[in-house]
Amino acid sequence: MKKQLQELYAQTISVIEKAATIDELEQLRVKVLGRKGDLTQVLRSLGTLPQEERVAIGKLSNELKEKIESALENRKTVLTEQQINKLIMEDWLDVTLTMPGTLKHYERGHLHPISQIQYEIEDIFTSMGFEILDGPEVETDYYNFEALNIPPYHPARDMQDTFWTEDGNLLRTHTSAIQVRGMERLKPPFRVIGPGRVFRYESIDASHENTFYQVEGMMVDKDISVAHLIYFMKTLLKEIFHKETTIRLRPGYFPFVEPGFELDIHCLICGGKGCSVCKYSGWVELLPCGLVHPNVLRYGNIDPDKWSGFAFGLGLNRLVMMRYGINDIRHFLSGDIRFLYQF
Ligand code: PHE
Repeated sequence: MKKQLQELYAQTISVIEKAATIDELEQLRVKVLGRKGDLTQVLRSLGTLPQEERVAIGKLSNELKEKIESALENRKTVLTEQQINKLIMEDWLDVTLTMPGTLKHYERGHLHPISQIQYEIEDIFTSMGFEILDGPEVETDYYNFEALNIPPYHPARDMQDTFWTEDGNLLRTHTSAIQVRGMERLKPPFRVIGPGRVFRYESIDASHENTFYQVEGMMVDKDISVAHLIYFMKTLLKEIFHKETTIRLRPGYFPFVEPGFELDIHCLICGGKGCSVCKYSGWVELLPCGLVHPNVLRYGNIDPDKWSGFAFGLGLNRLVMMRYGINDIRHFLSGDIRFLYQF
């Protein structure tokens, strides 16, 4: 019986080594090790042997069984690798292949105009010592509202309704949420900006989208005042528009700043004389800003008796629209390649 076993083993191993597909291996496994398999049959007949032989043969068959199993496994690995390599060799695509002589030049892609302005603004702020932070687009109520001094009953929530997930989270309505996360993590003094995509429950028209882009920023230090805010905003605008801009601050209400402002600039189209872009007022509303509310600092574990800060929000779609004279915000997400080619 020992001889019979060893022959079965030798034969099985040689078939394994020659097997060309994983299917073949599987068939072989069933034939030898399966419920009615050759080796299984041998093990079944052990009962008929005398005690001593039974132990020795039993041990041998178990050893051979293990060896066969590992040989099957090894061969399977080899075959899988071969299959992958074959696919790599056969199934590839030469993206540079074109019909000879038909293409004069390769069309190159470029960044979306919103990304372009975002990276420009990131460069301007990093050159002024700001750090760039990121945060999730699906936010908790806490980071988007509560920690920004907007409790559940607050009417300011109506201005920023959004899309809610079934488990009570939301698509962030502003990138201010990034700053709350920043405050928790950083020790003052610090300067940060948080660029990103934001969402609102809007009825869509030429100037409203349900998905748009912002860069919000915040500086926390000793004795920060409105003068600091104005200085940084004027520097930013000069860099973006490549000229001095005239600005004015109007009171504006946001629960997370006190005092809060709307910063307007002299209309860049008419220079302040009045035109259709500025609705004949000479001024264009550009960015909301203010000094960080003490409650918001407290939520960020910052002592408002020791530290103060300013914050601002920039709408990137708005900036790009002003820069290029685009009159409809819906172009940005339209995916219309003719629109994108222009930038
Ligand atoms: N988070 C506000 C918004 O998206 C903008 C803002 C930022 C206002 C910072 C004031 C200060 O509407």
